[in-house]
Amino acid sequence: MDFLAGRLKRINPSPTLAMTAKALELKAKGQDIISLSAGEPDFDTPDHVKQAAVEAMAKGMTKYTAVEGMAALRKAIQEKFLRDNHLTFALDEITVGNGAKQVIFNALLATVDQGDEVIIPAPYWVSYPDMVHLCGGTSVIVPCPEADHFKLTAETLEAAITPQTKWLILNSPGNPTGRVYHENELIALAGVLARHPHVYVLCDDIYEYLVYDQTPFTTLAAIAPTLKDRILTVNGVSKAYAMTGWRIGYGAGPKPLITAMTMVQSHSTSNACSLSQAAADGTSPLTSLMQPLACRV
Ligand SMILES: Cc1ncc(COP(=O)(O)O)c(C=O)c1O
Repeated sequence: MDFLAGRLKRINPSPTLAMTAKALELKAKGQDIISLSAGEPDFDTPDHVKQAAVEAMAKGMTKYTAVEGMAALRKAIQEKFLRDNHLTFALDEITVGNGAKQVIFNALLATVDQGDEVIIPAPYWVSYPDMVHLCGGTSVIVPCPEADHFKLTAETLEAAITPQTKWLILNSPGNPTGRVYHENELIALAGVLARHPHVYVLCDDIYEYLVYDQTPFTTLAAIAPTLKDRILTVNGVSKAYAMTGWRIGYGAGPKPLITAMTMVQSHSTSNACSLSQAAADGTSPLTSLMQPLACRV
C-alpha cells in the first residue's frame, strides 16, 4: 500500500505475538497448550501491588505525572539499583516508560541516525532489530553459537565493531536462551569497549531475577565503572513482579541521554500510566525486602 511510510518496509510483525495468538487459538479449541512465546510469569501480580493502585485511584492520582515518572517511583528505582546492583544514579539519570520496550525504543530513537550500526548478539529478542530499523539504523547480527554458550565473546565483539557502531545491545539473562553473562565475561567485553569510546552499551536486564542456576547476576555498569557514562541500564517490573500488563519499565544512564529519551517520550505517550507508577512504587515492590517474585531457584 503506497500510503504507508517507507520505514514500514524495513520491519516485520512480531513473531512472538503471532505465536501467542496461535497458542490462544489452539487453547480455545480445547487443546492442551504450553505457550513458550511471550515472556510472561504464570503467577498473578501480588495483592499489595494491586492494592497500591486501588489506593492511588481513590486518592485521585489520575492525572498526568512528570514525563520521566513520579519522583517517588524514581527514588524507589534509585534505591533498587543501589541495593541490588551497587549502582548509584542521581534522580535525573533515571527515566520511567511504558515498559522496558518503550525505554529501549526511546533510547534508539533519540540516538540512531541513518547508517548507524547497532550490534545485536544472536539469538536475540525479536524486537531489537525491528526497533533499530524503525529508527533508520542498521542491525549488525552477531551469531553466538552454542559452543560459546550463546554469548558474545571479546573476539566476536571486536570483529563486529566499525566506525559506524553506535550501540551494543547486551541482554542478560538473555531472551530466548536464558544465558547469563558471568563477571569475567563482562570484564572481557569491557576491555574491548574501553578501546572503542564511540560505542554505547544498552544493557537489557529485564530478566534479572529469572536466573535458574547458581550464576550470580551482575550488570556491566557495576563491573566496569569507567564505562558507566556510556551505558544505559534498562529494567522493569514486568517479569520480576508479574506486572507485564501494567507497563512500567525504566532506564538509568548518563543525564544527556536520559533527558533526550524523556523528550522523545514527551512527544509520544507522555508519562507511563499514573496508577501503574503508583503500583510499581506502592508499598514498594522495587525496594521492599520481599524477594522479587520471579526469584532465583
Ligand atoms: C529481552 C526483553 N527485553 C524487554 C522486554 C520488554 O518488557 P516490558 O516492555 O514488558 O518491560 C521483553 C519482553 O518480553 C524482553 O523479552
